[in-house]
Amino acid sequence: MTDGMRGLRWALGLVAAGVLTAPAVAVAEASFDRGNKIFRLDGGDVTYAFKINGSGILQSVYWGKRLPDRAPLAAPELSGLSGFDVITNVVPQEYAGQGGGLYAEPALKVTYPDGNRDVVLYYRTQEVSGDTIRVTLSDLDRPLFVTLTYTIDRATGVIARSAVIENRGATDVRIDQAAAAGYTLPVAYDYRLHYSTGRWAAEWTLQDRALTAGSTVLESRRGSTGSQNNPWFTITRATTTEEDGPAWIGALAWSGSWRLTFDQDVTGRIRIVGGYNPFDFAYRLRPGATLSTPTFYVGFSDHGRGGASRIFHRFERERILPRRDGRVPLRKVLYNSWEATEFDVNEAGQIALAERAATLGVERFVMDDGWFGARNNDRAGLGDWIVNPAKFPRGLAPLISRVKSLGMDFGLWVEPEMINEDSDLFRAHPDWAMQFKSRPRTQGRNQLVLNLARTDVRDYVLKVLDDLLTTNDIAFLKWDYNRNWSEPGWPDADIADQQTIYVAYVRNLYWIIDELRKRHPRVEIESCSGGGGRVDLGIMARTDQMWPSDNTDPLDRLSIQDGFTQAYAPGTMMAWVTDSPNWVNQRQTLLSFRFLSAMQGGLGIGTNLNKWQNTDFLVARRYVAAYKRIRETVQRGDLYRINRANEADQRWTNLYVSGDRRQAALFTLIGSTHKLDVMPTIALRGLDPDAHYRIESMDGAALPLTMPASASGAYWMNHGVDVTLVGDFQGVGFILTRTR
Ligand code: GLA
Repeated sequence: MTDGMRGLRWALGLVAAGVLTAPAVAVAEASFDRGNKIFRLDGGDVTYAFKINGSGILQSVYWGKRLPDRAPLAAPELSGLSGFDVITNVVPQEYAGQGGGLYAEPALKVTYPDGNRDVVLYYRTQEVSGDTIRVTLSDLDRPLFVTLTYTIDRATGVIARSAVIENRGATDVRIDQAAAAGYTLPVAYDYRLHYSTGRWAAEWTLQDRALTAGSTVLESRRGSTGSQNNPWFTITRATTTEEDGPAWIGALAWSGSWRLTFDQDVTGRIRIVGGYNPFDFAYRLRPGATLSTPTFYVGFSDHGRGGASRIFHRFERERILPRRDGRVPLRKVLYNSWEATEFDVNEAGQIALAERAATLGVERFVMDDGWFGARNNDRAGLGDWIVNPAKFPRGLAPLISRVKSLGMDFGLWVEPEMINEDSDLFRAHPDWAMQFKSRPRTQGRNQLVLNLARTDVRDYVLKVLDDLLTTNDIAFLKWDYNRNWSEPGWPDADIADQQTIYVAYVRNLYWIIDELRKRHPRVEIESCSGGGGRVDLGIMARTDQMWPSDNTDPLDRLSIQDGFTQAYAPGTMMAWVTDSPNWVNQRQTLLSFRFLSAMQGGLGIGTNLNKWQNTDFLVARRYVAAYKRIRETVQRGDLYRINRANEADQRWTNLYVSGDRRQAALFTLIGSTHKLDVMPTIALRGLDPDAHYRIESMDGAALPLTMPASASGAYWMNHGVDVTLVGDFQGVGFILTRTR
């Protein structure tokens, strides 16, 4: 008897004996419904359930608001709709193999050397322990096993799902497609899909479209996460608002090519499948070998898109982000030299900037591109991670010690996965660049991508970074990645393994970062990809902060930040105050406006401080000091997006409330006022209605005459705050402090 048959016999035996619940654990338990085993996960305000149906297939049952403990979780046994849609397409599967007449999106597609391309996955065994359920499936007759892991986070109800595919047979199997999970939403015809699109310097544009019959595909074919789509989505009903109604949120933890498909199937259900992108994918699984998929996280809130975002933000802070001394450290106020100097860096120039930055209250000084090899522009030097002797004749030590004597720590820009043809590294190892044999290599920003899937390349990258961190007192790396893949060849690998580059590259990248962090546990890292091209939960698990966009225009940033924070915590989102007019669009803005925009994430300053007047320093000092008062609330609190600029109210209004509700930070900024429109009152959220809060302006200016200096939480939430802004690019910030 196989394990699977034993499992089924055991399950049926329990039902016959009248035992209605299998081993119950705190948040995951199994019960039975009319002879079918049901698995259930409960956490936060969420219940998730699936069953083994009468045919032994894992069928989705429920994902939504938490249900009472003994809720029946009835799930009908389904049958085919017609000869055209046999049962395989009608049953929403948790993890569907491409076989048995499936037309819906499969989670797994394989090819056997004998030509068989049919795989049908049946339940075999289970393991319920702690907050995790593991279910093993296998093909109806071939020894191909898939173990699905489900873990629920007790606090937020966020579910993590992934799969491990194992070849227990004696011949190779080629995996053509492998998802982490499939999720299902019930039949309805008013679903909306929210997601993000973009390009360099224009990331995080929110899209909102109806999910109707047919398919929607979000993906990256680029070898990395990409900014054209981000691997995040939120699905709402038509009636869902920012703060009310159901919202299902999901994101893939993978920094390589990925795909999410959303299909409304023939029955009207929404099927969501996500994992490795099958585009150009082929993974040879030798006998005994396994392939693990990325993790696909999902959450649910019935407090609208705002509630879904807050659940994800909290989950990231508590479960994803790297910790130090048991906590996710607060982001330091940083200065970065890039927009001030570009490649023109040297010891004296950087020290001059550092001295000015220190007077503002900056805590971390970061030297950007240009410090290494022959890096005087973007045509040379990548790969040669040796301090440029002309720019830094005494190495980095004098600069770092000056920065430290000014009370700041030191950070450095690197782009370790890339190579310029004009570099000593390329001259020594032309074969290390990703390429197909005897084919041209397409350059992006004059550079090629190193083939990190090769172990020699992986080891080189680790070594140069390890040496850099060992020989210099560096607290922070800005880890950049300034192009996407082309010609993704791996000529030295066996032909049947060459396409595993899509997996091996990213795994080696993760390995390098993990190893570096182990060796240098106090070093923090920023994930940057020419801006927001590599922001995902996979990289977030090993980096401390993200760079959302090279677009630092403070008005463009408000929508960029709004897009970023749909899924990702404001505490991970770096935002700089830069020069006006801005390089992106020549827009001129006040320094206060730039600060109010940048203070809504991790604050940085990227201006040319050599050009500042005394008054600029005064204004900046005041805002940096205000930021330090509110940063814990901004970075670790709850974000309420009170108004996204629209026809009726063109303000961007965001409120951050600390976890203990003792402090709130309110920002309201406008691109332009409209005719003589009176601006709506801002009703705050998330405060303690019975407590009293004092309000003050972030820049210390007098309050508007109509605003009381102190009032109850109920007052601020129901009566609200009246703010009139006049003119273009105006804004104001308020701090509310609980007094009793
Ligand atoms: C990318 C980054 C910028 C800067 C430059 C340096 O564009 O996003 O912030 O570091 O590279 O070349």
